[in-house]
Amino acid sequence: MIRELLTPENVEYVERARHIAENVMRPVAAKYDVEQTYPWEVQHAIKDANLAGVWIPKEFGGSGGGVLNLCLVIEQFSRACGGMGVAYAVNALGSFPIMLGGTDEQKQRWLPDIASGEKLVAFGLSEKDAGSDAGGMTTRAERDGDHYVVNGEKKWNTGGAVASLNTIFAVTTPGRGARGISGLVIEAGTEGYRVGKHEDKMGIRCVPVVELHLENCRVPVENLLGGAEGVGFKAAMRTLDLARPGVAAQALGLAQGAYELAVEYTGKRKQFGQAISAFQGIQWMLADMATQIEAARHLIYTAARAADAGAKNISKLSAMCKLFATDMAVKVTTDAVQLFGGYGYVKDYPIEKYMRDAKITQIYEGTNQIQRLVIARNLLREAASSTS
Ligand code: CAA
Repeated sequence: MIRELLTPENVEYVERARHIAENVMRPVAAKYDVEQTYPWEVQHAIKDANLAGVWIPKEFGGSGGGVLNLCLVIEQFSRACGGMGVAYAVNALGSFPIMLGGTDEQKQRWLPDIASGEKLVAFGLSEKDAGSDAGGMTTRAERDGDHYVVNGEKKWNTGGAVASLNTIFAVTTPGRGARGISGLVIEAGTEGYRVGKHEDKMGIRCVPVVELHLENCRVPVENLLGGAEGVGFKAAMRTLDLARPGVAAQALGLAQGAYELAVEYTGKRKQFGQAISAFQGIQWMLADMATQIEAARHLIYTAARAADAGAKNISKLSAMCKLFATDMAVKVTTDAVQLFGGYGYVKDYPIEKYMRDAKITQIYEGTNQIQRLVIARNLLREAASSTS
């Protein structure tokens, strides 16, 4: 990271996040990975440090830091623990639909509690049979007087077991495809809202990823996002455009953290009478890792800056940075394990966890195959409009 390329405000976020990452997260990362329980002590530290609402505008109780500062914080957290990075980032994912599509009253009702860290929020888009094809969801919300009655099941609900609020998407008008989908904020504890299966995961084990069962769940009409039916799918897509740089930042932090451990280890580990980092074969691996990390960093920061500058269509850049950084993180963390040799494959060292945590970043918030589809669609659209 070249600090001179950041503003003093950016650097301050980095330092505050790094303080928590090093002093609170890193010491307990392995413990929560084994236990697969939510790190409330970490959440309390984030809340106390006033970092829970970095991306939320000041008028709604947040810090007004935008997407770049959010990414800088996620990067630092993930450098210490990828699971803790996403446990934090998912609150941005769950609150972006409110910020982008909520009425002023809805923003005032929910955002200040999220910004203060009082309430956690999750995001319910995917279903068992509607993953990449998010528009193929079947969860149904039917108007009944001053309520919507919601029935269905959400899958891969990250943070759902600990969230007080869940921003979910459901079909309000069947037969209209994406235009029949609406967003609703459901408060945990609402009758008919039930957290189901907790997934037993390869990585990011400290954050609960659950199924969400909605059984005749009565949601007040005031919780319909934007007060309008049929605009939920677009809000979900615009949300993903803003949130994908955060996944990329998680991948970046993981790669950076693994790389630093690899540099340290290869400098100490002696074979054939010298530190293995003295061998050119090892040096070239480290050089490739560092170069790929830096390239990803610049793409992510550019996408985040474009989002903060209000660039009209950030879908392409957002998908590009998610694609590039997450593929990079899987490669770099795998190479870091390789550099640790046999010790990389066992849990005595923290390095294998980086590789396990990195894998999901290629999958969630849109698989990297979907990112390529988003990029290609935008490229072709741009090409068509420039020739017309
Ligand atoms: N911004 C605004 N509107 C958008 C948009 C965007 N980025 N992308 C699409 N739309 C609009 C389209 O313009 C279209 O609008 P009209 O009906 O007015 O024409 C409408 O949405 C439908 O768009 P498409 O026809 O392009 O939709 P599609 O069915 O072909 O699929 C897709 C689009 C890109 C494949 C989308 O389904 C997608 O992104 N899939 C991946 C879903 C995903 O990322 N899921 C992750 C969930 S979160 C998670 O992982 C768990 C977690 O908790 C971390």
